[in-house]
Amino acid sequence: MFAQKLPDVTFHTRVRDESIEGPNPFRWEDKTTADYFAGKRVVLFSLPGAFTPTCSTYQLPDFEKLYPEFQAEGIDEIYCVAVNDAFVMNAWAKAQGVEHVKVIPDGSGEFTRKMGMLVCKDNLGFGMRSWRYAAVVNDGKVEQWFVEEGYSDNCDTDPYGVSSPQNILENLRARKTEAA
Ligand code: BEZ
Repeated sequence: MFAQKLPDVTFHTRVRDESIEGPNPFRWEDKTTADYFAGKRVVLFSLPGAFTPTCSTYQLPDFEKLYPEFQAEGIDEIYCVAVNDAFVMNAWAKAQGVEHVKVIPDGSGEFTRKMGMLVCKDNLGFGMRSWRYAAVVNDGKVEQWFVEEGYSDNCDTDPYGVSSPQNILENLRARKTEAA
């Protein structure tokens, strides 16, 4: 069963620190689930891996482009989580030139496992990774899930549709219209 409340975990991030000299001015900074999610309404999306084609060509860039439209629907932040360490997530965000979407490293997969979304991708040599999903999360509670079909280990396909930013925006707008 998928979690209705986000699990409390500590994410091990790397942040730039200008006080550090040398070619690699970064330090570790631990951030908790509450640091990212408390008091905010956010879209969280998760994918099988940084630098993979669908994620790099469509999902991350489209969330980045549509960020102002999500803001207009009452979304404070867009977070991208993957079972990749902080070095990989930061390198991917830099390569993609993202300014709005914030990446969250879940290198050990603890968050993803506790969300009920950890799957085996040994068929691709990936080990344990996240199933592709998104969720609207309000103050740490899941308002709505967008889970791609076929959740399974070693899945032959990589469905991408319901967790797209376009689909989530459509849902947010429809719910606003219904509530009006
Ligand atoms: C993709 O995003 O295209 C992808 C994800 C996982 C494995 C292979 C490709």
